[in-house]
Amino acid sequence: MEIGVRTAPEKPVDTAPRKLPALLGFGKYFADKMFRMRWTEELGWHEAEIVPYGPLQLDPAAKVLHYGQEIFEGHKAYRWADGRIALFRPDQNAVRLNRSATRMCMPEIPSDVQLDAVLALVRQCADWVPEDPSTLYIRPTLIGIEPTLGVRAANEYLYYVILSPVGPYFPNGFSPIRVWVEGKYVRAADGGTGAAKTGGNYAGSLFAQSIAKEKGYEQVLWLDAHEHRYVEEIGAMNIAFVIEGKIVTSPLLGSILPGITRDAVLTLARERGDGGLEQRLAIDELIDGIRTGRVTEAFGIGTAAVITPVGALHWEGAEYSIQGGQVGPVAKEYYKTLTDIQFGRQVDRWGWMRHI
Ligand SMILES: Cc1ncc(COP(=O)(O)O)c(C=O)c1O
Repeated sequence: MEIGVRTAPEKPVDTAPRKLPALLGFGKYFADKMFRMRWTEELGWHEAEIVPYGPLQLDPAAKVLHYGQEIFEGHKAYRWADGRIALFRPDQNAVRLNRSATRMCMPEIPSDVQLDAVLALVRQCADWVPEDPSTLYIRPTLIGIEPTLGVRAANEYLYYVILSPVGPYFPNGFSPIRVWVEGKYVRAADGGTGAAKTGGNYAGSLFAQSIAKEKGYEQVLWLDAHEHRYVEEIGAMNIAFVIEGKIVTSPLLGSILPGITRDAVLTLARERGDGGLEQRLAIDELIDGIRTGRVTEAFGIGTAAVITPVGALHWEGAEYSIQGGQVGPVAKEYYKTLTDIQFGRQVDRWGWMRHI
């Protein structure tokens, strides 16, 4: 598909980074251009263009504002030491967006069109890709914009992509987080939308997250909706444990987001003989394993931080320390391998990196 460009003339690829604020944080600053494209029943996807970043004009009756017909993606571009810029597995984000689209009754966007859009935009905004260890976060979004109030799928959609230079998740060094295991509220149930990356899943998680914060914990670990027993995922990350030396994570049974970083960790773990097992993990058994030393590490897995070590779990009134609250060797090793691949410090044997 032809992508129109309604901004300044195209700059050379891999421009040197522009001066950005020292403390970027997450999602606070945005590149000055965005991609957008519309869909109607009559024309399908059309009007693909790169335009200056700015507010959207939405009718107040737009379906997304009432019934939450919204999905999104999140991935990153990395500036390598040699000045080249590469994205981590962007093809997988395109595939996942389409799976979310199907679940939310929205039109799919051919994966190659999504990839062309993202790559063209990052190319145009190459100077917004900060230097290692900061990254450029990419946020593709799809919303139903038909301005009518009937509860049904929209017949008009807007897809757009915005870019945000973000700082390292651990500005003060790789350090473990404390996690609140949520026994009452749930994130997603079987048959629900947990496996889709849709805004409502996140809105519904904010209440438990605020309780956890109040109690002094940084993230919520969600349990299954039926028995409130099996571990699902943490906040915006999948979770893995090291059990008797093997990496084990929850299986994808429909209520968990199929993380792309999770998939990379499983691939590496299977190659290295470190397990990479997908098994239902009961919280009581995990707590017992932490007590007896069978469970030696826990870590979150996701785009934002890659690997986030968990130093303590709170469950039923007691706190359980993992690895004495320190970063474990497996978390350290996988964090290093993945970030080395992402920043081009290690050969990418898996074809995960895509240059702009
Ligand atoms: C709910 C949830 N689970 C898991 C993940 C991790 O997925 P990924 O590795 O693709 O970033 C994310 C982040 O996108 C998420 O929002």
